[in-house]
Amino acid sequence: MSRIVEKQDLSENVVRMVLEAPAIAKKRRAGQFIILKIDEEGERIPLTIVDSDADAGTITIIFQVVGKSTTALAMLKAGDAISDLQGPLGNPTEIENFGRVVCIGGGVGVGVVYPLAAALKKAGNHVISIIGARTKSLLILEEEMKKVSDRLIVATDDGSYGFHGFVSAVLQNMIDAGEKIDRVYAIGPVPMMRVLANVTKPHGIKTIVSLNSIMVDATGMCGACRVSVGGKTKFTCVDGPEFDGHEVDFDQLANRLRMYQ
Ligand code: FES
Repeated sequence: MSRIVEKQDLSENVVRMVLEAPAIAKKRRAGQFIILKIDEEGERIPLTIVDSDADAGTITIIFQVVGKSTTALAMLKAGDAISDLQGPLGNPTEIENFGRVVCIGGGVGVGVVYPLAAALKKAGNHVISIIGARTKSLLILEEEMKKVSDRLIVATDDGSYGFHGFVSAVLQNMIDAGEKIDRVYAIGPVPMMRVLANVTKPHGIKTIVSLNSIMVDATGMCGACRVSVGGKTKFTCVDGPEFDGHEVDFDQLANRLRMYQ
């Protein structure tokens, strides 16, 4: 059982929740996730841990309302309880001082890139962040991202705020301008991560993506989260969630996500 301490709507259908989870809050590192079940019969929902407070014994999650389970989760209020929380799961992000890093988040993916940007900044990197959304009202965590970035660029597809266009165009402009970039983190919808990996590949800029595969058992046994990376089968739950974006078979990933939908 885990109690919801705080709930906040970040945009139209993106919700932020602070959950009581003292053991997870103490252990968790950037890049890891939890699996939660609302009740006994509930579906298992994998969600990145966006933040944690070891002293308060809480973790923060951000999710988009996309189906039955996330709709049910979004109906809960502060004070309500969630039946099952498992975590922290997955491998933590490799955090070092790489130099100049670009952290890119699209849509709800900004919630996933935020803890990485914060950890990379703490490790001494020069952090440039690019966050994007379809339109201004769907943009999340701008203030939080600003705090952990040396420079923040906002992009909207419809031009209602910041740069008019995709986050990939912002990155392409930076590369074209000759900016030194040592590493890129790209997290968001599959088409966005695919384009970003294609932008950096010709320049040999290491690009890490975090995959949002469907998960069932989260133990590497069921195969639901299977992805092909560098021609080898990997499981997002135990081998990921982060992989080298230049090695991921995005076509297969998109097909599998479509099939489950
Ligand atoms: Fe079953 Fe990863 S969720 S193998």
